[in-house]
Amino acid sequence: MAQTTMIGGERVQAIRGAPRWIDQRLGLDELSYDVPRHANNILYVLGGITLVGILTLIASGIYLAQYYNPDPASARDSVVFIVSTVKLGAFVRSFHFWMANLVIITAMLHLVRVFVTGSYRAPREATWLTGVLLLFLLFGFAFTGTVLKWDQEGYEALGHNQDVGKLLGSAGAWFTSSFTRSVPILTRLYIAHISILPALLTLVVLAHLFLIKHHGISGLPGHEPERTDDTDTTRAIREEGASPFSAHIRLMVGFGLMLAAAAAALTLVMAAPLGQAIVQGEEITKPTWIFVVLYPFENWFGIRALLWAPIIVALALAAVPFIDRARSSSLRQRWPLLLLGLVVALAYTAFIIYGKVAPHGQHLM
Ligand code: HEM
Repeated sequence: MAQTTMIGGERVQAIRGAPRWIDQRLGLDELSYDVPRHANNILYVLGGITLVGILTLIASGIYLAQYYNPDPASARDSVVFIVSTVKLGAFVRSFHFWMANLVIITAMLHLVRVFVTGSYRAPREATWLTGVLLLFLLFGFAFTGTVLKWDQEGYEALGHNQDVGKLLGSAGAWFTSSFTRSVPILTRLYIAHISILPALLTLVVLAHLFLIKHHGISGLPGHEPERTDDTDTTRAIREEGASPFSAHIRLMVGFGLMLAAAAAALTLVMAAPLGQAIVQGEEITKPTWIFVVLYPFENWFGIRALLWAPIIVALALAAVPFIDRARSSSLRQRWPLLLLGLVVALAYTAFIIYGKVAPHGQHLM
């Protein structure tokens, strides 16, 4: 810390030196290791933006949990109470809803970036597999969150949950209300939403982050290591120059806050939906865009499509690193797989649109 004769000046110097003092105590300096400059391109920050988005979901979710009642007799009323009476309740509920949607979008965009740049290739197969798990955990949050609002849409979503559980036989008992008489299934899905899924997400995020740190960020497509003592990361740093990881964290947080601002803006434009009170035996709603992609398949193949389609998608995604046998990650050498990816992305979008306009079906058993 610089010496100065003035007492007031000394205080200013001490305050200016505070971040350094804190850095030294907490070891934050360790976060200033080198990453290639391209890691600061927004396409390479999408995973980090997703992570910051998840943190805001945890914060807003904790607030909502203070007022939400997971008892079937009171659940919807407690949501009405949150939006009508609780201070900031309407804002926090809609923020949580919009951020959940945005986080799924950023996670998907992150997947697309990793797919296009071939960053799942050796030695990053496990990073990709933990990513696939994360995506499905996010879907789990979106699904259980939909049920929690306990309106007609939530109730019908729960019906689908129970039917898929029945299809699984004794292995699916947990997903049905017959699992236990002592706790209603809504309450158990709430437990999944606020403790089981967060615990799993934390574990898998930690594994994902460990693997990213271990392997370093991938080089740009086509820039494989040239020497045996080289990695694509060290080659990228040599070619492009280095940037401290702490600058990458600042970018993550900056973009993450912009995402939060977007969620807040959407909140002001449109409140999170809350449909009519439950009418048992009716099947009149369609799922949110996240799940409506499955709707046409349900129309064609019945409820079992809900079991098979996600399994097929998960297996196909998990197989990607083992299918890509091109010698280099260059886009030119991997064009057949990239073309297949484009076809899948277009089909996915087409099925979402078709799911939205497809005729209403009666799917529940
Ligand atoms: C909760 C969701 C996810 C979070 C929080 C997350 C977080 C991250 C972060 C922070 C990075 C560092 C680079 C970047 O920010 O782009 C990263 C890299 C990576 N992620 Fe994810 N990710 C998630 C989902 C996924 C998914 C769905 C996949 C693919 C199926 C995936 C596969 C990968 C791979 C292979 C890398 C290494 C990329 C490289 O070295 O260039 N991640 N992830």
